[in-house]
Amino acid sequence: MTLLHLEAVTRTVLPPDQPALTILNGVDLTVVENDRISVVGRSGSGKSTLLNILGLLDLPTSGIVEFAGRPVKDYSSRERDRVRGREIGFVFQQFNLLPGRTALENVMMPLYYAEGRQFWRRRALAAEMLEEVGLGHRLESLPDRLSGGEQQRVAIARSLVRGPRLILADEPTGALDLDTGQSVMELIDAVAARTKAALVVITHDPAIAARSRDHYRLEAGVLTRATDASASAASESRRLLAAAEPTS
Ligand SMILES: Nc1ncnc2c1ncn2[C@@H]1O[C@H](COP(=O)(O)OP(=O)(O)OP(=O)(O)O)[C@@H](O)[C@H]1O
Ligand SMILES: [Mg+2]
Repeated sequence: MTLLHLEAVTRTVLPPDQPALTILNGVDLTVVENDRISVVGRSGSGKSTLLNILGLLDLPTSGIVEFAGRPVKDYSSRERDRVRGREIGFVFQQFNLLPGRTALENVMMPLYYAEGRQFWRRRALAAEMLEEVGLGHRLESLPDRLSGGEQQRVAIARSLVRGPRLILADEPTGALDLDTGQSVMELIDAVAARTKAALVVITHDPAIAARSRDHYRLEAGVLTRATDASASAASESRRLLAAAEPTS
């Protein structure tokens, strides 16, 4: 099933006293259930701008964005908020935990906006989710008593506790050391696999990108599908060999 479909999406902003700036240019992308997509691109290439559009936080300047088959421009802003809260989980580089609240309280937050069983069982669901990220023993800890990796686990638990169908991660390991980053990615993968969610990861890190099935590159607002790392290495070595052939 298609979750998200983008066609010829552009995003242009008008900074004060400056000419219009096109941040995204003709982006096409389809995300289906269970997808594992990575987007790499250098700083300023438009990655976060793209993620905000994928997450229904911003609308494109032109082009089509459909969520679950319905054009996003037809949603009211309330409907967009509701769909985002229920179906999309965000993981950012900054953990954005509420400082005066325990891990459990932080993870319960999104469930106050849920309905029915999810709302009534919020404490148990939040505790189960913290258990799943390996923090069952830190339910009552305040964020400043947790390590960076643990704080990111709490943030992941909070993002995923409502069982979103789409997980959007913007540099999720950017503030973590290599090993902690890898284990945080393993955790996101595991939750996504259990809930059959699609995962879109934005990263600078080739090792993180290599974990996904489909690879994209964003350059100056243009998104292209990249072949996987080994295929591009092979084509590069063929190119070098060809260049080294003596010409007669
Ligand atoms: N509202 C805005 N007004 C003006 N310029 C903007 C606005 N939003 C983004 N930009 C510019 O658009 C470009 C792309 O921004 P974006 O945040 O998407 O980059 P990014 O690829 O996520 O970079 P990074 O890797 O550093 O996070 C940047 O040059 C940024 O300064
Ligand atoms: Mg960014």
